Amino acid sequence: METTGKVIKCKAAIAWGPHMPLSIEEIEVAPPKAHEVRVKILASGICHSDNHVLKGKLSNIKFPIILGHEAAGIVESVGEGVTDLKPGDKVISLCVPQCRECVCCQNPKTNLCLRNDIMKLTGLMADGTSRFVCKGQQIYNCASTSTFTEYTVLDETSAVKIDDNAPADKVCLIGCGFSTGYGSAVNVAKVEPGSSCAIFGLGGIGLSVVMGCKVAGAARIIGVDINPDKFEKAKELGVTDCINPRDYDKPVHEVLAGMTNHGVDYSFECIGNIDMMVSALQSCHYGYGTCVIIGVPSSSEKLSFNPLLLLTGRTLKGAFFGNLKSKDSVPQLVSDYLAKKINLDSLVSHYVSFDKINDGFELILSGKCIRTVLTF
Ligand code: APR
Ligand code: ZN
Repeated sequence: METTGKVIKCKAAIAWGPHMPLSIEEIEVAPPKAHEVRVKILASGICHSDNHVLKGKLSNIKFPIILGHEAAGIVESVGEGVTDLKPGDKVISLCVPQCRECVCCQNPKTNLCLRNDIMKLTGLMADGTSRFVCKGQQIYNCASTSTFTEYTVLDETSAVKIDDNAPADKVCLIGCGFSTGYGSAVNVAKVEPGSSCAIFGLGGIGLSVVMGCKVAGAARIIGVDINPDKFEKAKELGVTDCINPRDYDKPVHEVLAGMTNHGVDYSFECIGNIDMMVSALQSCHYGYGTCVIIGVPSSSEKLSFNPLLLLTGRTLKGAFFGNLKSKDSVPQLVSDYLAKKINLDSLVSHYVSFDKINDGFELILSGKCIRTVLTF
């Protein structure tokens, strides 16, 4: 290709600092170094975690940064030594990489490849440098991905080839929201047929949990949300009962205990609210209930609860990306979508063109959207 080996000038949405709108700027994207690929983004979802960064809730993140971590695109060029990707391949970005070599990749219990940047938050490529420059200044990347840009550079462990026929503006959600929620139900909680589940928060993540619970054969799927506008779609996707905590004068775990046999088998926190995490744990049945935390709270917040909740047999778990090993799982989920085994179409409530990205963030705050997908 004529751009191979050259710097590409293109548009990107720069977050210069917290509490500021994103700014569409011309950036320079360096060619991929060894074991990296440069990708032309076709579609990217806006995740609530991107909004957390903009609102300054994740204090260790470095600015200026290009956010976005849920995208599908086409490989433009590859660096030396890349063997499993080539120019023209359709790919999904992986915010949790899979190197297949580290101690975590070799352990079937976890997906948290040691090459992930979610814990360290360097905002840089593996060699400690950035591929993005704007106005002469180095720009950090986000979760080894950065997809609010026309072109990005990914480590080969942070991209996976998918079926060429997959529609980028739907399957991009497999890059974060869908897999996180769905995997939390089928892979982290391991929901069983006939069980009861409570899902706290019915946004894109919560509804993906709902789909996982339904596929796993849960008999009762109770949705909890303070926004009753979320209930209709939740019921379409498999929620059997909806609860608005504001309609009751007792705590939501007591409401759930009354609706079930004193508690649910599985609960999921899909909000990122510390109090709701404790509520979700309290909603689990004594002796055997399992609570999975999925929402991301502010970095300053700490969980506080009575340890008797655990001593009496409840299990508290958490995971990124549904504890799915990303390179192994994502192509299969794309195939499942193409075979109509999973429903991503219901999660995409809005499309916004990339240069209107700030409208996409306003939609999140409006409570009107499930997932907004940016088109390029
Ligand atoms: N009680 C119940 N529901 C609540 C509460 C509350 N106190 N506060 C918010 N909600 C509901 C909102 O009305 C919304 O429907 O939680 C839902 C959250 O959905 P989204 O905003 O669409 O967020 P989503 O993208 O699904 O992510 C949820 O997971 O990945 C993390 O960072 C992400 O913390 C976020 C969480
Ligand atoms: Zn690894």
